[in-house]
Formats: sequence, structure tokens, C-alpha cells
Amino acid sequence: MTDASLLSSARESLAVLRPSEYTAALIQVLQAEANSVRGATVLEIGSGSGVVLAAVAALGAATVCGIDIEQDAVTSGRLLLHELGHGEVSEFHRGDLWEPVLGRRFDLIVANLPHFPMASNHVPGRLPSWSAGGPDGRYLLDPFLEGLESHLTPHGRAIITHNAFVSLERSREMVARSGLALQAALTTLVYIPEDKLACMTDHVLEAEDGRSIHRYGRYAFGEMHILEIGAPGTVG
Ligand SMILES: C[S@@+](CC[C@H](N)C(=O)[O-])C[C@H]1O[C@@H](n2cnc3c(N)ncnc32)[C@H](O)[C@@H]1O
Repeated sequence: MTDASLLSSARESLAVLRPSEYTAALIQVLQAEANSVRGATVLEIGSGSGVVLAAVAALGAATVCGIDIEQDAVTSGRLLLHELGHGEVSEFHRGDLWEPVLGRRFDLIVANLPHFPMASNHVPGRLPSWSAGGPDGRYLLDPFLEGLESHLTPHGRAIITHNAFVSLERSREMVARSGLALQAALTTLVYIPEDKLACMTDHVLEAEDGRSIHRYGRYAFGEMHILEIGAPGTVG
């Protein structure tokens, strides 16, 4: 490969890994809780560009660990943390969900998982692994929630994005089975482009249109929560 083609392929990778409104809301909550980030060991599953871990490192996290299924994301995260002077405290692994950190526990676990309810995985301008959460949006969310308790330190917490059009009650029941509780730290609207909305599972769209999905002509917004999950009494 020539230098020019290497540069152009690096630019393409950065473009598909660009942060989203979900990323911004997640960082907003982490900034608001800076006191509990300082000194924490932090894991992110689905680290993408690496920018969420860059934000927690800037807030004074003791260590940051990123996992992503895409090699380009692992490379992007590693480069970003090095570039910002956090290389010494960061590690990145290519792998599936919890697999690279089996047996390890963290004070803070963050995730903005693909959990958009859609049967296909084609979202224009993104990699197939970016958004698609299967027909009910839970393809990765459920195994993430199932593995959470065994990867948190005793006073540890998770902070994650959670679309309001994916059952919050089911997530609440799942974490309760592990002895954890959840609470929304923030509920906000995110823009859903027309071509992405067209991919949404029909019965979810029918049920949520006018409820958690708000349409104004060709423009649509979905409600999204940033959830905190931890031992009962420690979240909120
Ligand atoms: C919605 S993006 C979020 C990226 C980044 N955290 C952010 O907020 O900008 C979801 C990320 O999860 C990654 N991913 C998808 N499936 C995964 C899996 N099975 N295990 C780990 N990461 C996965 C994708 O490659 C993508 O980077």
C-alpha cells in the first residue's frame, strides 16, 4: 500500500467510527460524575473510536481498558489514548463482549452497545457491527447485562446507553436477578436519520411511534436513557 492509500483508508476508518449523539450523552453523564471516575479502573465494551475512554482518562481514571470486535476500533482507541498522553494507563483488546476480560473486575464499566432493534445490520455510513441489536435490540444487551455483576468490584457501577424503545423493564428485571438496581441518570432525544428508522423492526416502530419515537414530517427523534447500574442504594 502507498502512503496515500494508507492515509485514505485510515480516514475512512475514522469516519465510520465517528462519535454519535449517544456518545455525547454518555460523556455528559460521566463528566457530571467526575468524582466517582477519578481513581477508578474503567472498562468499556464496544470502545469504537476510544473517545469515551479518552474522556474518563481525562477525568482521572486510574486505568482504562477498551474492548471492541473491530480491529480498526482497537487501533483507533489505542492511538487516541497515546496521542492524549494516556497510553501508559490504557489497554485495548479485540474480542467479543466479556471474553477478553474473563475473571477481571472493574470499578466502572461503560457501554454504548449496538442495540437498535433491526433484523438486518446495514446502516448507511457505519460498519455492520455499529448499531444493529437484532429484532428486539437485545442481541448484545442481554449477555452484557448477564455478565455485569461478575465484572464489577463490590461498589462498582455501570453507565450505559439504553434506547427507550428497547424494554427497560426487561433490563431492570435482568439486573435485579444479579442483585443490582438500575436508574436513569439522563433521558434525552437522539436524532434518528430516515434511512435508519426505515430499518427498525416493524412491530417496535408500530408500538413506539408517538410514544418514545417522535416524528415531525421526515425528521424523527428517539428517547434514550443513560442508565446507572449498581448495588441497590448506590445508584442515583
Ligand atoms: C454504537 S458503537 C459505540 C462506539 C463508542 N463507544 C462510542 O460511543 O462512540 C458500538 C461499538 O460496539 C462494537 N461492537 C459490536 N459488537 C461487539 C461485540 N460483540 N463485542 C465488542 N464490541 C462490539 C462496535 O464495533 C462499535 O465500535
